[in-house]
Amino acid sequence: MIDQILPAGLTAWAERRDDAPVELYPEEAALVARAVEKRRREFATGRWCARKALAQLGVPPAPVLQGERGSPRWPAGFVGSITHCPGYAAAVVGRSALIKTIGVDAEPDEALPEGVLDAISLPGERDRIAELKPGGVSWDRLLFCVKEAVYKAWFPLAQRWLDFTEADAVLRPDGTFTVRLLVDGPVSGFEGRWRAESNLVVAAIVLRSADAGSGR
Ligand SMILES: CC(C)(COP(=O)(O)OP(=O)(O)OC[C@H]1O[C@@H](n2cnc3c(N)ncnc32)[C@H](O)[C@@H]1OP(=O)(O)O)[C@@H](O)C(=O)NCCC(=O)NCCS
Repeated sequence: MIDQILPAGLTAWAERRDDAPVELYPEEAALVARAVEKRRREFATGRWCARKALAQLGVPPAPVLQGERGSPRWPAGFVGSITHCPGYAAAVVGRSALIKTIGVDAEPDEALPEGVLDAISLPGERDRIAELKPGGVSWDRLLFCVKEAVYKAWFPLAQRWLDFTEADAVLRPDGTFTVRLLVDGPVSGFEGRWRAESNLVVAAIVLRSADAGSGR
């Protein structure tokens, strides 16, 4: 599902489960040693996807550790992004010579719990999704999914927090979206693609080095 919304030149690996049979490297296992079982399983399945995606680019198996604020630390020369939600995990990677940053997110395709939409959206975003045709996809959940993908793409470039109120997303029924960042930083916005299938929504942002501007 995720590879259908990626441009050429990237590799992805997805699993429709959260218990891939992966043996973590000791340094990876140490990162989740004190976590609950569910967290250990999703972390391991994400690492499994990362290994498989990197292998397709010829990268030998190696630990994927954590950088600042939980971001995955990719082997030198590569960038990528990991997501997991119940019953699904995926990793997308690319060469940093070509790709500046990647952000992917997957969510169950169901309405957000009461009150969450107001917390994660701007009034204009709420107005726009209210005008989109109901059915087919949970637009409120997709908005959340897109904004999580934005954070994952933003963080490796900016190395700082981005609030839900600091990005303004326009979702389109044709499977694309545009995001304008409302803070100064290394980029002024992102373009991305989304897809809904089998009770899941996924969003992917891929910023090519050639398309990366100099910020605002
Ligand atoms: C970090 C965050 C985006 C993760 O999203 P999520 O839907 O909760 O969880 P997912 O399973 O999809 O993604 C988790 C993966 O994201 C990656 N991730 C975590 N922090 C990250 C960061 N700072 N930068 C990039 N990737 C990060 C990790 O690979 C993580 O999996 P792992 O810990 O097993 O390696 C979310 O928890 C969060 O903190 N959101 C608040 C910030 C935000 O979204 N702002 C909106 C800006 S418009």
